[in-house]
Order: sequence, then structure tokens, then C-alpha cells
Amino acid sequence: MLNLHKVNFSINKDNDEINLIKDANLNIAQSSFVAIVGPSGCGKTTLLRIIAGINAQTSGTITWNGRNLSIDDFTPSELGYVPQFSIAFEELTISESIVTAIKLRSKVSSKEQIKIIHDRIILQTGLKDISNRRVKVLSGGQKRRLSLALELVTDPELLLCDEVTSGLDPKSEREVVSLMHSLSKDSDRIVVNVTHSLNHLELYDIIIVLYEGFVVYQGPPSKLTHYFSVTSAEDIYPTLSKRGELDWHNSWLKHRENYIVHSKVTGQLPKLIKPRLPASGLNQFLALTNRRWKIFLRDKMQILLHLGMLLLFPILVAIFGLDGINQPKTMPIQTNANLIDQLNYKVSVSKSHMEIGSLISGLIMFQVILLTLMASNNSAREIAGEREIYEKEKFSGLRVSSYISSKIIFLSVLVLLQSLWMGVFVQICVPSLPGDISTRLIVLILINGSMTSICLGISASMKSPEQSSLLAIYLVGFQLPLSGAILALPEWISPLTQPLISAYWAWSGSLDSMKGEYFGQSIDAVTQQTNIQPLNICIVWLCLHLIFGLFLTYTGSKKPQI
Ligand SMILES: Nc1ncnc2c1ncn2[C@@H]1O[C@H](COP(=O)(O)OP(=O)(O)OP(=O)(O)O)[C@@H](O)[C@H]1O
Ligand SMILES: [Mg+2]
Repeated sequence: MLNLHKVNFSINKDNDEINLIKDANLNIAQSSFVAIVGPSGCGKTTLLRIIAGINAQTSGTITWNGRNLSIDDFTPSELGYVPQFSIAFEELTISESIVTAIKLRSKVSSKEQIKIIHDRIILQTGLKDISNRRVKVLSGGQKRRLSLALELVTDPELLLCDEVTSGLDPKSEREVVSLMHSLSKDSDRIVVNVTHSLNHLELYDIIIVLYEGFVVYQGPPSKLTHYFSVTSAEDIYPTLSKRGELDWHNSWLKHRENYIVHSKVTGQLPKLIKPRLPASGLNQFLALTNRRWKIFLRDKMQILLHLGMLLLFPILVAIFGLDGINQPKTMPIQTNANLIDQLNYKVSVSKSHMEIGSLISGLIMFQVILLTLMASNNSAREIAGEREIYEKEKFSGLRVSSYISSKIIFLSVLVLLQSLWMGVFVQICVPSLPGDISTRLIVLILINGSMTSICLGISASMKSPEQSSLLAIYLVGFQLPLSGAILALPEWISPLTQPLISAYWAWSGSLDSMKGEYFGQSIDAVTQQTNIQPLNICIVWLCLHLIFGLFLTYTGSKKPQI
């Protein structure tokens, strides 16, 4: 039994309090199929979100089977909430989407158990014959069925649906409404459907009419036209606009006793519902990781882009070093040479140091910058691109830690592949590159990892994938000029910017590790104006950037963004 008692909801806009839901009183018995109708903007979605607990009411009480929801909220398995937007990944099939939802939301111990739940749901929702179809090819009606199917995985006692029939042709609309009707009857479930459509009202047990935030009717469909003194339901909206909302509300308060459907279970004790156990964090992590790889491997454009970068970028770097890196000239002790010859020789030695140093520094910086580009491609849209689905899954019990861990594992594989291949390929093509390859590989993994982590943090904190990509591109774009590797920065700027520039630390650390016996002077020659730091310090800074990115990812993912 769902009860709303004097529920109000207001928001503060420009220091004005706007009441969106006013004094709502509702009583809905188990097994009822309820429509909330009303003209656009009257507060239907707002009311549904208040019942679901997404928005907290400003005043009033909502009780569920006698339980005050402000004190003891729904468990995720008690409630199903079907939002207006599509909540499934396009690349997955219907079956895969349902199986993932089962794994994410309930504690299931075996494959057989998952199969039983899956088979029951596809039968219930009429999706059996098309269960192997990908979401992207489904019709509007089939997508809505899938949205309902995904909510049935926990067999919820209350199913709240927002406009699941909008935009459908009349036949599909009737099919989906009939499906919701049967879902309310095949168990003790309450199904509430928000709609502005006035078709098929006869299938509902209760119609709630909202007008400008007020409940102006709650009763059976059969008495609806009588109450509004109209001949057909289509005439209700034009009739509503003829009187003020307060007038309608007061009129309803006067006549409500004659219309209200009294609960069939009034006086009975609420049914004892066995709580379902939520999925463990580990199972959620495994289900998400599995799903991420499936989606990645099925997205041909993504694969092509990643492969293109993986293969082409190291070639681009290697081309510049194909002629090899010569050993720098050393200054011989020529006691018998005249002063001019000695000076000429000195100039040619420092020229050779400059050339060799520039080549090494350029190659390293090029490698680093291309890896930062790959990093932004790895993660700039990772969370922002699926934010609505993520928020929905979080609302249904997904742990933030499971979600972030699955992202870390997925992205780590990309980062390792890209960085190792970049380092090894360049080393094979330019074997004369000085220094220890394993040290350089560590630095390459760290620069790619830290930028991937920061871009993931950006993608968790931005409202849209477009905003997130743009910011990530700016971040990569500023790496080169602000690193000071190409043009020295003014002395007062570099201490402010360099700590923030991951590319500087990767470049600096790699060069420091390459000085060795022969190349110290060459590297010093190109880093006279922009000091480089010891390798250990650079590694610490890159690790700090990586941790900062993860922190940003955690705070951004935890904060609701709807
Ligand atoms: N966060 C918000 N800030 C300002 N106004 C809001 C906010 N949320 C809702 N509103 C306003 O509250 C009113 C009710 O919105 P709601 O989305 O509940 O309407 P609705 O009945 O679901 O409309 P529709 O049929 O078009 O979906 C609208 O006028 C809307 O602009
Ligand atoms: Mg709405």
C-alpha cells in the first residue's frame, strides 16, 4: 500500500519558492494499475521522482506498507523505476542486457538461477522471440518492453514508469499498456504509469489527474468523464484550462469521497515481503567489466580508432629517429693545434651536442604527447557518455567502487598495451636511443596512466560527453607549450604551471634517465633553459597526477548528476 499525505515539493529559483507539487494525498492499494495524467509541465515526473525517493518532498509523509519512507527508504529491489530515456547499451542484445541487470542487482549463485530469472522475464514481457537482437535495432515499443524487463529482474513490488508509452504508435502503445496492466495483476505489484496520453484509460484501475501541481482527480476511469462533465477523455485537458488550479483542487476536496477507490486491503496487515539480497561488489565489478569489453569489441569505429593510434603513433615517432643517434663528439686534448682550430672544434662539439640533445628531447616529447592524446581518447567520454545509465544503475544499487574498479581494469589494459608498444617499437626502430628501456617504459606507462586517470576524472565530473571531451582536448593541447620543452617559459610562470603538466614530468624523467656516460652533455645542452628534474621526483609527480585523477573520478562518480 502506497500512501501520500499532504506531500509538497518546492524548489528555489532566483530567491523565489516555486511549488511544483501541492498538498498531494494519494492512497494506492497493492495490485493496482495507476495512471498519472495531466498536461505537459503539470508535475507528473516530479511526483514520480518524489515517490521513488530521487527528490525529497519539502513536507508531508510518504508511507509504503505502513513504513515511513523518509526514515526507512525503499530497498533497491523493492522498487523499479523506468525513466523516460532508454537505459540499455545499444551494442548489447536483449538477453545480455537482462543478464547483466540480474548480475548487477541481485545475489544469484548459479548460471541456472540466472537463466530461470531471464527466461521468466522475456516470457513475461513478450521478448522471447527477439531476445538475441541488439538494442540498437529494436523498435520504440520493443525498447520500452526492454526497459520494463530490466526493472523486473528484482521482481519489485512497486514499479514506477515515466512516459514509457510516449512516441509509440497506437498499436504499440496498447501493447505496452497491456503489458504494464498484466504486470500489476500477476503479483501484488503496484504499477504506476505517468503519461500525458489519454488513450486506453479503461485498462487502469485508478486515474490520477494532476493540474499545475495539484491532484484534481483520483478515481476509477469509469467516473472520469462524469467528474469533469465531458463526453470523452480527450476533452479533459481543454476543460481543465477553463478554471484555475486552486478552484479545481478545492472542488476535488469537496467531492473526492464519491470517487476515490478504497483499498481492497484496508484493515489487513501488510504482506510480509522477504527482502532480496543485493549483488555483491565483486559480482557487480565482474558483470561491468565483462559488459565493457563486450561493448568495446563490438564497436567497430572505436576499435579502428584505437588500432589506428596504436599502430600509427609509434611509426610517427620512429620516423624521426631512423637515421640513428650518433655518439656526441668529445673534446680531445690537442696541445699542438692553433687557437682558431681549437675554437672551431669546440664550436663543432657543442653543435653536435645540441643536435643530438634536440633529437633525443624531441623524440621523447613526441612520444609523450602522442601518449597523452591516446589517453584522452581512452577516457574522456568513458563515464560522461553513459552517465544516464550509470545514474540509473547507481539508483538501483550499483556500488560506486565496483563501477570505478571496472573502469580502472578496462583502461589499464589499454594503457599498458599502448605504452609498452610505443616504447618497444620506437626502441626497435631506433636502437641507438640511450638509456635503460625498462625505466623509459615505466615513465611511458605513468604518463599515459596519469592522463587517462585525469581525463576519466574529467569525464566523471562533467555534465555531458561533449563538455568532457572538449576539456580533455584543451588539457592535452596545453601540455606541449606549458611543459617548456620546446620554448622556455618565462621564469615566473614555470614554477606555477610545470607541476601541473604531466608531459613535463614524463619528458624530464625520461631525459634524466638517458644521460648516462655519453649523453649527459647533449641533454644538458637542450635543457639549459628548462631545468629537468631527477627521475625519482618525476615518477612521484606522475603518481600524484594519477591519484588526483582517481580522486576526481571517485568524487565525480559519487555525486548524483541528474
Ligand atoms: N529542477 C527544476 N528547476 C526548475 N523547474 C523545474 C525543475 N524541475 C521541474 N521543474 C518545472 O516543474 C514543472 C513540472 O515538471 P515535470 O517534469 O514534473 O512535468 P511533467 O508533468 O512531467 O511534464 P511532461 O509531460 O512534459 O513530461 C515544469 O514546469 C518544470 O519546468
Ligand atoms: Mg515528464
